[in-house]
Amino acid sequence: MKVLVIGSGAREHALCHSLSSDPDVTALHCAPGNAGIAEVAELHPVDALDGAAVAGLATRLGAELVIVGPEAPLVAGVADAVREAGIPCFGPSREAARLEGSKAFAKDVMAVADVPTARSYVCTTPDEVEEALDAFGAPYVVKDDGLAAGKGVVVTDDIEAARAHANACERVVIEEFLDGPEVSLFAVTDGETVVPLQPAQDFKRALDDDKGPNTGGMGAYSPLPWADPKLVDEVMETVLQPTVDELRRRGTPFSGLLYAGLAITSRGVRVIEFNARFGDPETQVVLARLRTPLAGLLLAAATGNLGFLPPLRWSDDAAVTVVVASHNYPGTPRTGDPVLGLDEVAAQDAPNAYVLHAGTKREGDAVVSAGGRVLSVTAVGGDLTEARDRAYAALSRIRLDGSLHRTDIAARAAAEA
Ligand code: AMP
Ligand code: GLY
Repeated sequence: MKVLVIGSGAREHALCHSLSSDPDVTALHCAPGNAGIAEVAELHPVDALDGAAVAGLATRLGAELVIVGPEAPLVAGVADAVREAGIPCFGPSREAARLEGSKAFAKDVMAVADVPTARSYVCTTPDEVEEALDAFGAPYVVKDDGLAAGKGVVVTDDIEAARAHANACERVVIEEFLDGPEVSLFAVTDGETVVPLQPAQDFKRALDDDKGPNTGGMGAYSPLPWADPKLVDEVMETVLQPTVDELRRRGTPFSGLLYAGLAITSRGVRVIEFNARFGDPETQVVLARLRTPLAGLLLAAATGNLGFLPPLRWSDDAAVTVVVASHNYPGTPRTGDPVLGLDEVAAQDAPNAYVLHAGTKREGDAVVSAGGRVLSVTAVGGDLTEARDRAYAALSRIRLDGSLHRTDIAARAAAEA
């Protein structure tokens, strides 16, 4: 199978890493990719938001499966353009991707499908904002309605900050604060059949002990030894299947990856958000544990054949990933710094620990930083402690001036396991 992956982050590198070891994959292409992906896939320049350009590239390459990684192309309708060209595509249509593209739309779907989530108001005027903030009280949860690359949400006790964020957004969702640990659960779906993957936990804040601003995610681990073994079944029944059924009922079936961001509250599981694509960095740890070959799974979803697939197989290993970000991330990051030590990781830590690139590019013989999230170091081990030790040992060989990473990824779960 000839496969084309669209995107350039560590998620796409994780996808390509798995696909490159899948015996069914005869050719692996990625557009636009990054310096790390170039080692396992042939790169092509493309504007990932341009559906006609992506469909044209896929046609020229003879791709038999296109996988769209990030949310922005999905919300822009790139998967529709690929499918119109007659090529199976893993990723939801523009209409179905609104589940991520509009928080108000997601809230409406959940209300109709009776999916448990935080109570919320959609506000467009300062008066409505004031009323909603007053109704819920602190801590305030204020979400920009549209896509904001993980930076549109403010959770704060400071009413001035809550008000300022709300009034800076055109349309804003203000909702009840959810306590309790967060879990990311992904499901692969063809619009009808839903196949859950294994849960992971992400670390959203920039600094240790969940301090600092929200980011796209600073690290992740899987499995979750502390989670109720019935969690996946429960979320399938109360969240994933009803949501997929509701979108099909509306005539806009969701096929691709449905990502449920969940809070395990004292009153039960609640949806914090939906995403319409694999999460980053959770994908790095979930795919590290998936034994079922990836291409066949995603092709089955893209062609409506998931119901025929045998149950997924998983390794008993634990996986941990730690994100290395540029100086000043998640603010305007500094780029162009050399990333050193990559060869040392390849020589000393592989195959149990490896680097997945995000914002990197090649300049001559050097790899330099090219974005806020530069790379993530992923490791597997017999348990979380071993995976964590391997990830941090490999990370210690990477040198990037001014970079930051969290030192406590999976620490608590490993200690309690
Ligand atoms: P989102 O982009 O909706 O996932 O929000 C980003 C992060 O903000 C989440 O991962 C949570 O840590 C936090 N958050 C979002 N909604 C809530 C909520 N209702 N209660 C508490 N924290 C929240
Ligand atoms: N890890 C959070 C996200 O992918 O949105």
